[in-house]
Formats: sequence, structure tokens, C-alpha cells
Amino acid sequence: MEASRNYACREPIGEQMTFDLESLMTSREGENFKLHQEYLNPQLARVLKTLGMDRFYERAEGCYLFDRSGERYLDLLAGFGVYALGRSHPVVKKALHDALDMDLPNLVQLDCALLPGLLAEALVGTMHEGIERCFLANSGAEAVEAAIKFSRCATGRQRILFADHGFHGLTNGALSLNGGREFREGFGPLLPGCDVVAFGDLKSLEEQLAKGDVAAFVVELIQGKGVYMASEEYWRAAEALGKRYGALFVVDEVQTGLGRTGKMWAYEHYGLRPDIVTVSKALSGGYVPVGAMACSAEIFDRVYSKMERAVVHSSTFGRNQLAMVAGLATLQTLEDEEIVDRARVTGEAFEKALAPLVEKYEFFHEVRGKGLMIGLVFGEPSSLRLKSRWKMLETARKGLFSQIIVAPLFTRHKILTQVAADNVNIVKLLPPLICGQDEVDYFVDALDDVLSDAHRNSALVFEFGKTLAKSALSR
Ligand SMILES: Cc1ncc(COP(=O)(O)O)c(C=O)c1O
Repeated sequence: MEASRNYACREPIGEQMTFDLESLMTSREGENFKLHQEYLNPQLARVLKTLGMDRFYERAEGCYLFDRSGERYLDLLAGFGVYALGRSHPVVKKALHDALDMDLPNLVQLDCALLPGLLAEALVGTMHEGIERCFLANSGAEAVEAAIKFSRCATGRQRILFADHGFHGLTNGALSLNGGREFREGFGPLLPGCDVVAFGDLKSLEEQLAKGDVAAFVVELIQGKGVYMASEEYWRAAEALGKRYGALFVVDEVQTGLGRTGKMWAYEHYGLRPDIVTVSKALSGGYVPVGAMACSAEIFDRVYSKMERAVVHSSTFGRNQLAMVAGLATLQTLEDEEIVDRARVTGEAFEKALAPLVEKYEFFHEVRGKGLMIGLVFGEPSSLRLKSRWKMLETARKGLFSQIIVAPLFTRHKILTQVAADNVNIVKLLPPLICGQDEVDYFVDALDDVLSDAHRNSALVFEFGKTLAKSALSR
């Protein structure tokens, strides 16, 4: 006999409407910025309006966004890196539809459900043999919070080291490991015992580790804020120093992981075996918040050391079924579509196509990064004529030049990119890993056009810079 079902209010009562997403969105179309200004973050709305980025996106597919007038935008930001598979990937979409249709018993809590087990098994299977278990969370910052707590608990030490320019999220613990003053201001006091070391500098790391009280060194192998990199020798020596002084080596792969750099994990580039790996962003194909902290059984068991501590670290939504399903579908798709290798190949294509522009424009200094995590580095031009313009912009606001590249790329060429960090002249590309030569060509032509304008000393470009400096962006 079928179990009885009792859903209240399935039919409209009198004049009352049932919820209908499509009609809701149609009836409120175009009110997005107004609502954000009124109920969410008015400053963000101001910034986007100033940059000419106020749009009403209606649909998204693959590497592209579409606004309500049908205009197409090339998305080289990919939701800060979550859309590795591109937007609206059919495999992840179907998996989520299937999961909803199966009426899965989600979040029973006093249960060991199948799907979290399968996701943890699959994830651990992609990492080096020293990684045996996962803690499943809801975001990158939560994965980092877990790494901080697990490191302290497993080592019995308190201090955590992090690198300048480092970014690990904005919750209180993760913020305590943030290498940028602009994020920390106004939120102190942060976690005690968190100390900065110079990125890529072995001496500064050893000085701290040698004190013998460090639980962990938490670091991104390629830094998201600025796409800074260190040498293979540095990484190998840093890992060895951690071992020598009993500190855990925690590699934050929230952004670099899952193929972004042309390898499944960035640590593979350097032959490393981190003690803890944090993961998030691309893991659920962009559909459901998800995060994971992976480590050895030994570290894990020091935290969950007895039955009384079975839930000593957890989160209500941490193993929710939709995130697990999306994660499993994403990992399978990465493999089926050979996404990691595609990221490597397309990364090389970007590098090759961008190299002539570095030669051509004196303020375009360098292209750096790995795979599809790319930093375009701009700096002071050599000719007198451009130098004075450059200085004017830099005096108005440090890092403004990159903003006057990002804005016309968007308004003129419908390409979404980002400035890599506050106060730096670095533009960052974080495209979907499914992009290919068409996207490379389209972007490089557009960048050539924007840079040639700036190079020709177009008053327009620099005037725009001044306007930006004066208006919403100058806080
Ligand atoms: C390396 C790194 N770690 C952690 C985080 C924080 O992730 P989330 O924004 O999901 O909290 C980010 C976010 O950009 C990141 O790039």
C-alpha cells in the first residue's frame, strides 16, 4: 500500500497564488539592482553601475551568459572559478533533477547516508595515498576553518602560518590567515597565533617553524589574489621544513583544485604530498554550495578520537544530498570529458596567443599562471608620453589601470574578467575549463583592441580612469 501523503496547500486557496518561479521572475524582471540597493549591498550595486556592469542576466550556458536583450557575454570569471564545467552542464543538471525526483531522504542527520560516502571515496581517490578521509562542508572558508581546527587538534599546537597575499575566505578563522590588510580592517581581534610569512621565502618560513610551536602552514600554491607563484624548489623545501619541525602542510586548493591549473591538484605540479587539502568551488559544478577538507586517517582520528567526540566538528548542511550528487556528477564529468587536460592545452593556447601582446604594449609586462588560472600583469610603461598618464592614474588610485582594462572589455566586448586583487595592476582570467580556441581568439582580439586604445593614449580611456577614481571606487 502506498504511504499516505499529506502536503498542505497544494491548490490555490481562493485568490491566493501558489509559488511559480517563472511568473515571479517575469513579473519582477529588471528590478535586480534596485532590490540589491534596497535590501542587500548598495555599495556593490554602486561599483557595478560605475563599471557599466549593471545587467539582468537571463540565461547561462557553457562559457556564456545572456542578458535579457539576448546579448551574449563571454564569462572569463566563471563565478570566481566554480564553473569549471561551464554553466548549466547537462550531466550535473540531470543528476540534480534525478535526485529531486527520487525524493531522497536528505539530512537525516542521525544516519550515515550513501552519497556522502561515495563523494568522499571519489574525492580521496583523486589525491595522493596519504589522503584517506574527508570532512564535508559548505564552502571554501568552511573547509579552511576545518583545516585550522584539525591542525591544532592533531598537533596540540596553536600557531598557524600563512603567506602574504594569501586568501582563504572571509569567516573569522580564515580571515585570520588573510594576507591582505584591506580585508582584515575593522574586524579584529582575529584568531591569536596566526602569523604571516613572505610568500616564496624559505628563510622567513624556517624562522617561524623553528620555534617548534606551529600547528600548520596554510598556503595556496598559486595565489588567487594576484596569481603569484613560487618555485618548485621552494615548495619542496617548504614541505620538508614542515616535516622537520612537526608542522602540518595545508594546501588550499579551493581555487587551484579540480583541474584549474592543468593538473587535477596544483600540488602535482611540484611533486608534493600535503597533509591536508582544502577543496570547494568547482566541486559541485556551480549548483550547490560545497566544500571539503581532506587529510590522513591519523589526523582525522585525533579529532574524532572517541564516541563522545563523534560530532565534535560538523555542520547541519555539510553532507546535503544535492551537493553530494552534484559533486559526484562533476568528478565523473571531469574524467569523461578529459577536462583537466583540456585546461592544460587551452592554458597553453592562451599563453601563446597573449605573448605577442606583451611584446607589442610597453605597459603589458607579463602573463603568468598555470593552466586556466592566468594573471595579466601590467606595469609602468617605458616611454615618457605614457609614463605621465600612468603616474596620474596610479596617483588617483593604485591599481586603477587594470580597472580601465576590465571595464571596456566588458562594455565594449562583452567579456567578463576581474582585477586580481585590490591595488594591483593585474587582470585575472579564470575561464570555464571547457573553453577552447574560439574563446582564446575572441579574448585576445578584444584585449588587443582595448590595449591599443590605451596605448594610443586615448583620452577616453584615461578620462574613464579618472571618473572611476573619483566616483564609487574611491571609497
Ligand atoms: C584559495 C581560496 N581559499 C578559500 C576561499 C574561500 O572560499 P569561499 O568563498 O567558498 O568561502 C577562496 C575563495 O575565493 C579561495 O580562493
